[in-house]
Amino acid sequence: MSLIFCSRTDDPEEWRAAFAEHMPDLEFRVWPNVGALEDIEIALVWDPMDRQLLDFPNLKMIASLGAGVDHLLAGTTLPTGVPMTRIVDDNLTQGMREWVLLYALYCLRRVPEYLAFQQAEDWHRLAAPFAYERSVGIMGLGVLGEACAKSLQEIGFQVSSWSRRKKNLPGVDNYAGADTLDDFLATCNILVCLMPLTPLTEGIIDSRVINVLPKGACLINGARGGLVVEADLIEALQSGHLSHAVLDVTRQEPLPAGDPLWRAPNITITPHVASITDAMSGALLVSKNICRVRTGEALHHLVDPKAGY
Ligand code: NAP
Ligand code: GLV
Repeated sequence: MSLIFCSRTDDPEEWRAAFAEHMPDLEFRVWPNVGALEDIEIALVWDPMDRQLLDFPNLKMIASLGAGVDHLLAGTTLPTGVPMTRIVDDNLTQGMREWVLLYALYCLRRVPEYLAFQQAEDWHRLAAPFAYERSVGIMGLGVLGEACAKSLQEIGFQVSSWSRRKKNLPGVDNYAGADTLDDFLATCNILVCLMPLTPLTEGIIDSRVINVLPKGACLINGARGGLVVEADLIEALQSGHLSHAVLDVTRQEPLPAGDPLWRAPNITITPHVASITDAMSGALLVSKNICRVRTGEALHHLVDPKAGY
C-alpha cells in the first residue's frame, strides 16, 4: 500500500520517519514524485493538489494533515465517495490550549500596554481584573473549543460558548444556533474563535458582530482568517470598540508585507503556529485509520463534506 504526502509547510522527512516507526510496510511517497498512480491508496495532504486527487484510481482515504479541512474542501476537486479524515490528536489539542490560555491571560493582564510602556521606558501600573471577573466566549465548542473552555475555567474565567448543536459542558453556558449569536456575543469580554471555516462561517466576524460585543472586548482568532472581515476588524481596533486582537491566522498566509493588519493598532499576530500537527502522534493516528481501511472498518475522525468540517 502506498501513501502520497503533499504539503509545502510540513517536513516530509519527519513524517516519513514517523510512518517508518508506526507502519513500516507502508510505502511513503512525496509529491510530485508520485510513481505509478494506481499504487496510491492514501493521500495525506495539507496543500490541495488541485485535480490530481482525481488521478488516483485506487484512492481509499484522504487524510488532512490538520484539524481543519476548509482548504481541501474549497480548493480541491475531490473524487466522489472517498472518505476524508482530519487530525484529532491530544498534542494538537494541548498546543491550542496553551496558545489560547496564553493570549487570554495576555489580554486580561494588559501585556500589550506594558510592552508599549517598556518601549517608552515608562514605569506605569494599570488596574487589571481577576479572571473570575471576565467572561471568555468560545465560538465553536468542538474538540479544541471544549479543551480550551476547561483550561480557561480552571484559571478562573467565566466561560460561555456558541455552537451549531446544543452542548452540555458543566459550568459553560452554551448558546446553540444562529438565533442565539447576539445573546452569546453580549456576554464576551474576550471572544475566542475556534470554529471551522465553512460557507456558513465565512466572514462571520464582521462589523455587525463586533459591535454586539461589549465595548473594549478582545478578539482571539486561533481558527481561520476567513472567519474575519479584516477591514471591519481594523476599523473596530481604530475606534477602540475592540481593545485588542490576537490573530494566529489571516485570510492571506503568509501575511504579505504592507498588509494593513501588520500596522493596525492594538494587534498581535502569530504566524499560524497556535497548534501544528506533531508528526509522530499524527502519523500514529493516520496509521490507525489506514489499518481500518485495510480491514474495512469505519474510519475515525471523518469529515462531513456537506457541513464543511
Ligand atoms: P471541531 O471539533 O469540528 O469543532 C468545530 C466547532 O465549531 C463545533 O462545536 C461546531 O458545532 C462549531 N461550528 C461549526 N459550524 C458552526 C456554525 N455555523 N455555527 C456555530 N457553530 C459552528 O473542530 P476543532 O478540531 O475544534 O477545530 C476547530 C478549527 O480550529 C479547525 O477547523 C481549524 O480551522 C482550526 N485550527 C487552527 C489551528 C491553528 O494552528 N491555528 C490548529 C488546529 C485547528 P457543533 O459542535 O454543533 O458541530
Ligand atoms: C491547523 O491550522 C489545523 O487545521 O490543524
